[in-house]
Amino acid sequence: MSFDLDQFVLDLRRAAASDTAVRTICETIEAAIADPTAIRPALPTFDDDEALLYEDDAISIWHCVYHSGATIPPHDHQMAAIIGLYVGREQNDFYEADPAGGVRKSSEVFLETGKILSIGPSAIHSVACISEISCRGFHVYLGNLTETDRWLFDVDHHQKLPFNEVNYAAMKRTA
Ligand SMILES: [Fe+2]
Repeated sequence: MSFDLDQFVLDLRRAAASDTAVRTICETIEAAIADPTAIRPALPTFDDDEALLYEDDAISIWHCVYHSGATIPPHDHQMAAIIGLYVGREQNDFYEADPAGGVRKSSEVFLETGKILSIGPSAIHSVACISEISCRGFHVYLGNLTETDRWLFDVDHHQKLPFNEVNYAAMKRTA
């Protein structure tokens, strides 16, 4: 089955408006990446590794490339999120409040090519691309992500920092 990006975005927007938005979005992404090798040839070349495809008050749709060995620092979304990976393998670490202050790691989930990961609105996670090739996926959020105040977490220093470009760039780890 061929992949059509414009149709995918329309399908996700329609899913976001349904009474069962999270479930319907999960099903939409699962179906789209069921044949992961069909996605990349059907996509344009994006200028940025993290490219915003669509955003309104109901849904934000991003295409994200994380290079091998890169780690995205712990952060929250303040809304439900669904990741669909079509190239590579990711390790997602999840965090909980640490009685000593800040947050501490509580669990980890490995995300394989062609699979999705659904994350609740209060979750805090970090993402590492653990495959030899870059990880490529769609990241979908149930709200307007760029208009939402959210946080980055410095685990070692028990600190919580505003999620902005400066803090994100300073905390992101490349290989
Ligand atoms: Fe995230």
